[in-house]
Amino acid sequence: MKKETKIFSGIKPSGDLTIGNYIGAISQWVEIQKDNECVFSIVDYHAITVKQDPADLRRRILDIAKTYLAAGIDPKKSIIFQQSQIPAHTELAWILNCTGTNMADLKKMTQFKDKAGDKQDGVSVGLFDYPVLMAADILLYDAQIVPVGEDQKQHVELTRDIAKRFNNEYGTIFTIPEARVHKAGARVMSLSDPTKKMAKSDESKLGYIALLDSPEVARKKIMKAVTDSGDDIDYDPINRPALANLLTIYARLGNREIPRLVKDNKGKGYGEFKKALADVVVKFLENFQEKFNSISDEETEKVLEDGKNRALAIAEEKMKKIRQAIGVR
Ligand code: AMP
Ligand code: TRP
Repeated sequence: MKKETKIFSGIKPSGDLTIGNYIGAISQWVEIQKDNECVFSIVDYHAITVKQDPADLRRRILDIAKTYLAAGIDPKKSIIFQQSQIPAHTELAWILNCTGTNMADLKKMTQFKDKAGDKQDGVSVGLFDYPVLMAADILLYDAQIVPVGEDQKQHVELTRDIAKRFNNEYGTIFTIPEARVHKAGARVMSLSDPTKKMAKSDESKLGYIALLDSPEVARKKIMKAVTDSGDDIDYDPINRPALANLLTIYARLGNREIPRLVKDNKGKGYGEFKKALADVVVKFLENFQEKFNSISDEETEKVLEDGKNRALAIAEEKMKKIRQAIGVR
């Protein structure tokens, strides 16, 4: 029998999940879990790199776990767990801080530069160090493939460098992982500014569609989405990025191919096209939310408890080898 590939990915509970998270990450996971050994985490220690309200954080952790389940991650096959419940993640992050990671690596990270902006001295050390915790997440489980959106590729590249340096120093301890980015929808853009990624942290609520937005709200956001000049329907990401983004969302949530969509919508104006897109998005959300609402908190907590026990066994075994290799025991 063919050996299954090991997969790790995660999402941080720092805001409402968007259709960007679904298209860029979670929908890929559902596909990949079929023939592989998958571990999916709610990476809560990544969320606290910026200030979080404790009650909101607690709620979001459960909601993300429910989102994984509602999207189709099967907890019997894949491991779903909360990062903070496994101390090995922060332990390994510390070790990798000391071996494998240089200040220069972290200074290069575009996500840090974007998030810290011109206030680098005022943000938490955690925000700067965050890619090392992410490397620990991935390396603990010997992940070979890390399915993520485009914005996380640089962090996975860094994880590879860290793992190689550590292996050079201490022998082959870590598996060198690879990022897998889905071609269509790797970067779903903001509905109000197609030069920015759709993010749950967007100040303009019109920019993103949350997975738990009501159908009416979602419809309004689609109808208000900015468009480019021109009035026919065509896929041209360079010259008409706003429309290309809407076509991508349509294709991914409606299970259609972009060329086919363009053909079927020839001759339609933006208004008519947006109405059709809103129908597709609303249908997707209704379906998703029906599943989401049918999953209880208790059921979700049980899944997390089971996931914790399974993840703990893998992580602890790996940590023993790592502690031994560096000489702390
Ligand atoms: P985050 O919401 O930043 O924790 O991201 C969780 C996962 O969703 C990562 O794999 C991201 O790359 C992916 N993701 C987040 N926003 C988008 C987006 N707008 N388009 C595609 N993927 C995204
Ligand atoms: N940094 C990722 C993000 O912001 C989340 C994340 C943390 C992650 N650890 C991970 C993703 C490990 C993949 C693998 O989206």
